[in-house]
Amino acid sequence: MTIDININGKALTLDADPDMPLLWAIRDLAGMTGTKFGCGKALCGACTVHVDGQPVLSCAYPVSAAAGKAVTTIEGLSADGNHPVQVAWRELNVPQCGYCQPGQIMAAVALLDKNPTPTDEDIDNAMSGNICRCGTYTRIRAAIHKAAGVKS
Ligand code: FES
Ligand code: FES
Repeated sequence: MTIDININGKALTLDADPDMPLLWAIRDLAGMTGTKFGCGKALCGACTVHVDGQPVLSCAYPVSAAAGKAVTTIEGLSADGNHPVQVAWRELNVPQCGYCQPGQIMAAVALLDKNPTPTDEDIDNAMSGNICRCGTYTRIRAAIHKAAGVKS
């Protein structure tokens, strides 16, 4: 079937099985590869994107559920990579291998949109679904606080 969807401000009509995970529509049909495949089972957060501003796990979210909605991926956060969260991430050298980081950043942006001054506990709760095999959690938390300082 054809599915009308808006990805990063671009209106697209995708020819897709309605049950196709949104992740594959983004990567394979729309050609945006910033969003990563980790587990494919809603367990790691690597595939986190926003649908109408809410964080979703795109590996477990059918593309048909995003029809008529606005999807934002890591590529759509900022035209020049300078969203305050991206800047904080760079300044604190958060990534190690980097694989989980697009999902971490999308989860962090969603948290700060909802809660501009999160506590450590708020951060740990909001980010608990995003796994980092390199263990960058301490820097992630610090970068979220830094971005919160810039935004607030
Ligand atoms: S790839 Fe979607 S949660 Fe792991
Ligand atoms: S930076 Fe390597 S998995 Fe998170």
